[in-house]
Amino acid sequence: MISTSSKENTHEIFEEIKTNLTRGVKDRKHAFHNPVFCNVDQDGGVDSRVVVLRKFDPINMILNFHTDYRSPKVSNLKQNNKSMLVFYDHKLKIQMRIKTTSIINYQNEIAKEMWDKTKLLSRKCYLTSKDPSSLTTLPEDGIPEHLIGKEPEFEESEKGYKNFTVIENKINEIDWLYLKISGHRRLNLLFQNNKPQFQWLIP
Ligand SMILES: Cc1cc2nc3c(=O)[nH]c(=O)nc-3n(C[C@H](O)[C@H](O)[C@H](O)COP(=O)(O)O)c2cc1C
Repeated sequence: MISTSSKENTHEIFEEIKTNLTRGVKDRKHAFHNPVFCNVDQDGGVDSRVVVLRKFDPINMILNFHTDYRSPKVSNLKQNNKSMLVFYDHKLKIQMRIKTTSIINYQNEIAKEMWDKTKLLSRKCYLTSKDPSSLTTLPEDGIPEHLIGKEPEFEESEKGYKNFTVIENKINEIDWLYLKISGHRRLNLLFQNNKPQFQWLIP
């Protein structure tokens, strides 16, 4: 049977996925702007947290986010680079569970290119004197006192580069789920050389 619905045409679904991931990067209000990134921790447990989607490369099927090199997730990804990004948009009624392999970019061309594009205010997060996730006796964010409530000057902001890291996540598989009262749809996209093989599943 040849289907006419855009939610039943595998190639159209793939194109729509790419469009929405691109929008998710550009539009801060798009639900795909803040996926949940999951990886394996040092004890073999699962760890998950919200991140900001910073880049989507539809040719190489790579999703990026930024983090602090001192964060435990960086050392954990060095041990095990298997990861996952989970997206949900209630307006689109679409969930995507994307299996990825993570690459840590630190003090290299990719990190430098992205760092040069960051705003002064975003750079502030990389200027904490204490490591992210380190224990503290008082409730605080670790930002130096003179920067509370203001942006750093360019020169000071540059010191943050020593902590700045770009995590590239190469897409291996997408589990796409479309929820609709009249009939849910679920499609698996398995990638080889950035080309998907499609498989329908019972939702
Ligand atoms: C809306 C939102 C966006 C966030 N974006 C990022 C991000 O892009 N990178 C990041 O490392 N942490 C981000 N965080 C903080 C993480 O969710 C997490 O709390 C922090 O990275 C510590 O996680 P870890 O212990 O796994 O290192 C964000 C949190 C929220 C609520």
